[in-house]
Order: sequence, then C-alpha cells, then structure tokens
Amino acid sequence: MRTFNDPNKLQRWALAQRLAGRKIALVPTMGALHEGHLSLIAAAKRKGADEIVVSVFVNPTQFGPKEDYAQYPRDHRADAAKCRAAGATAIFFPTPENMYAPDHSVWMVEDGALSGSLCGARRPGHFRGVCTVVAKLFNIVHPNFAVFGQKDYQQQTIIRRMVRDMNFDLKIVVAPIVREPSGLALSSRNAYLSGAEKESALALSRALKKLKACAKNGPRPWKAVKEETWDELGKAGLRVDYVEAVDADTLAPVATLEKGVAVLLAAYAGKTRLIDNAVM
Ligand code: PAF
Repeated sequence: MRTFNDPNKLQRWALAQRLAGRKIALVPTMGALHEGHLSLIAAAKRKGADEIVVSVFVNPTQFGPKEDYAQYPRDHRADAAKCRAAGATAIFFPTPENMYAPDHSVWMVEDGALSGSLCGARRPGHFRGVCTVVAKLFNIVHPNFAVFGQKDYQQQTIIRRMVRDMNFDLKIVVAPIVREPSGLALSSRNAYLSGAEKESALALSRALKKLKACAKNGPRPWKAVKEETWDELGKAGLRVDYVEAVDADTLAPVATLEKGVAVLLAAYAGKTRLIDNAVM
C-alpha cells in the first residue's frame, strides 16, 4: 500500500494510473476507521477497482467553531493498518496546510435546496466545507467512482447533486449503514460515548425500526408519528435535534410516513451529536 501526504504527488500518481487504464476508487474519510469505513473499501473492491485510495483527513473547514475539530479522534498508524488489511492500495494523509493555501478563497457551495435543512441548518458552513474538500479530493485522485456511506444521508445526497451539477466525471456509490449487533450505527464519534450514553443512543435505531414497521402497515400522518418518536428519544435520555421525514431524493419534507420516505434523526447523547436514518 502506498502512502501519500503531498496532494501533488498523489495527483501525478493517480493520473498515471488512469492513463494506464486502471480503475480508481476513492473512499473519503476523516479517519478513526471502523467497520463502517471498511465496508466502503469492501464495496470498492466488489465494484472492481484496481486502485483503492482511502483519504484520511479531519477537514477543518467542515467544523463549526464550537464543534469537535480539536478532539476528533486521530490515529494514523491504526488507520493505515486497517486500510492495508482491508485491501486499500493507497492511503492519503494530507495536512490542513497542504490542502488549503493560507489565502484559499474559492468554495464549492450548494445553494440551500439540499443543504438548507437538517444538519445543514444546524451546522452553518458544514456542507460548504464538505463539498469543497470532496471536490478537491476528486480533482486530486481522479477516481472512476467514490464510495460514501448512507449513514450521512444528507451528505451523500448533496455530493450526488454536486457531481451531477458540476459534471464531475465519476460515479458515486452509496454503501449501507453498518450497525453494531445492538443496532447502534457505527460512527467515529461513538468513541466519545459513556456506557449510559451508548445505552441511550440505541433509542435511535430502535425508533427507525419501529417507524419502518409502521410505514409497512400503510401511510400515516407524519405529524403525530414525529411527536411520538421525539418523545421516545427524549425518554431514552437523548436531547433531540431533529426528527424529519423527507423525500428520499430531494430531502423535501413530507406530510405522510410511507414506504420510500427517508426518516432522518439527530440527537445528542450527553455532548455527542449522533445521526441515523432509514429509508422506509
Ligand atoms: O463523511 C466524512 O467522513 C467527511 O464528511 C468526508 C466526506 C470525508 C469529507 O471530509
């Protein structure tokens, strides 16, 4: 497995691979890799990539001033070992300094149709940072396809739109959420949770399971179901940020819970903000 720190070196190598007819997959991550990330590498393998490039970069521009940028878990050695074992062929560990010039001033911005609600409304500037760094990674790695997790539902929706609207010459693959046997969706931020907070966090996947069963029984007015879900999460000890039912493609709010609708949840367990989702 090759290791790159310098974006220019990676870009030259990646271009040579593409010119030689090799298929490149990009798996963008912020590190602290877990089985969820490894499932993205596995998806890249299944899709027949010749080169699987995993980027590990805690991107400062997608964190708000009061968010966990400084404390976000970082362990390059463990991440490299996991990538190698999972079959990645290259790992990219850039620094903020070599990703962003001191006078960086051009950004990739979604106009709010997709990013103005849900996490985007609560984390101003977050998706500007995500889209910008992902666009830079696309330009550096020249991937034939990039793999994102469904766990960040709004993120993958915005990235797919960015690829379409900006004519990026690559495909986006979305891999399903990986869960602990308890149902808890894997996240690098789960490392922050105490035992009691982890117990509370299980209410998220429990609620989604219940909502899926409910949607199977036919359409239901969302307002009442939303209130019930909000109460249940609160009773489990979570501080709810949002409980939303949206169109699975446009993220527009819907009035009815039914098959095909995406339900997105965000809540705090202690100080840790967790998200989860399911398409009904
Ligand atoms: O999902 C993430 O880990 C990040 O938002 C991403 C896509 C790697 C961009 O920094």
